[in-house]
Amino acid sequence: MLSSTRAILSRASHRLPRHPAPLSVLRPLSTLRPLHEQAKPTLPTQSVSPHAPVGVDAALRAASDPSFTARPKVFDEFALTDRVAIVSGANRGLGLEMALVLAEAGARAVYCIDLPKEPADEWKKTSEYVRKMGGGRRMEYVCEDVRDQKGMWARAREIGDKEGRMDVCVAAAGILKNHTDCLEYPADQFQEVLDVNTKGVLYTAQAAGQQMRRFGNGGSIVLIASMSGSITNKDHAWVSYNSSKSAVLQMARSMACELGRENIRVNSLSPGHIYTNMTAAYLDSQPHLLEKWSSLNPMGRIVSALGAISLSVEVITPGKHCRLVGLLYLFACILSST
Ligand SMILES: NC(=O)c1ccc[n+]([C@@H]2O[C@H](COP(=O)([O-])OP(=O)(O)OC[C@H]3O[C@@H](n4cnc5c(N)ncnc54)[C@H](O)[C@@H]3O)[C@@H](O)[C@H]2O)c1
Repeated sequence: MLSSTRAILSRASHRLPRHPAPLSVLRPLSTLRPLHEQAKPTLPTQSVSPHAPVGVDAALRAASDPSFTARPKVFDEFALTDRVAIVSGANRGLGLEMALVLAEAGARAVYCIDLPKEPADEWKKTSEYVRKMGGGRRMEYVCEDVRDQKGMWARAREIGDKEGRMDVCVAAAGILKNHTDCLEYPADQFQEVLDVNTKGVLYTAQAAGQQMRRFGNGGSIVLIASMSGSITNKDHAWVSYNSSKSAVLQMARSMACELGRENIRVNSLSPGHIYTNMTAAYLDSQPHLLEKWSSLNPMGRIVSALGAISLSVEVITPGKHCRLVGLLYLFACILSST
């Protein structure tokens, strides 16, 4: 081991200059231009926004080209015009709310995957609302169990065959069980939670990712984790839920590193407490929890639906344009504070 390390070091040393550059080749400090007069540092172009130039590049173009029109582009950059999406757990709750957001952002078709054979009344009314927005937007309901890997792959392939593309995936289906002592936690219940919250998230991401690879347009996969993947809710005996969500955080990092080269981005999103059917199971039967959970939130409140959520986003953007990183962080912060 030591000898091979020495060999590597000795090979590397041949590539290094034996001496520092002679002083004569260094420019005296007095001849260097001040920083503010030097040209903006540039890298070879690796990716170009379809809306380029954007951000500061657009401002610089406007300064040098009077015919260039200054106009906001930030919403163009977030537009999902003509995109196709799938969202699991989208018959209600956060999944349905996020499906609606994708449709509002311009997605042409948002496929909502959930367990019941027929969608709920709330889903039907939301779908009708999307139709009325016009622009050819539509929501479709698909009955499937995220625990069925082959079933999920088949549904996504059918969607790909019909739509000719796949751009966005939100894996939101999840379950939370009653308090159960961690030292007595039954194997079958632990397995059930992992099956939906961890394996189901993987199968959903696989199903959409396979279609993204098939069509070669890249895409964006968002895995819904939870604050419970990073912290533990004191006084709540949720060892299965917390463990399942931690796994989702690492799944996102792992998949992001594997799929980045195919221009498929994978990120995780960790909501705080939000009033949905999942949390109503606790809040409706134990009203004191409302005050407790609200006081744990920096804003002193919990909310219903996604309009105002406390949120932590893990944005994994290897080698991405700094404009994109800036936008994502800013929007995440704005969302979490409204
Ligand atoms: N509500 C919160 O406070 C909160 C906080 C953090 C994270 N989350 C996460 O957000 C996601 C959505 O939660 P929610 O609050 O909207 O819950 P919800 O119970 O209202 O909705 C979950 C949906 O997932 C569906 N689902 C469950 N098992 C499924 C399966 N095997 N196959 C397909 N669909 C299945 C349910 O039918 C339901 O429609 C979950 O992953 C949850 O863990 C919620």
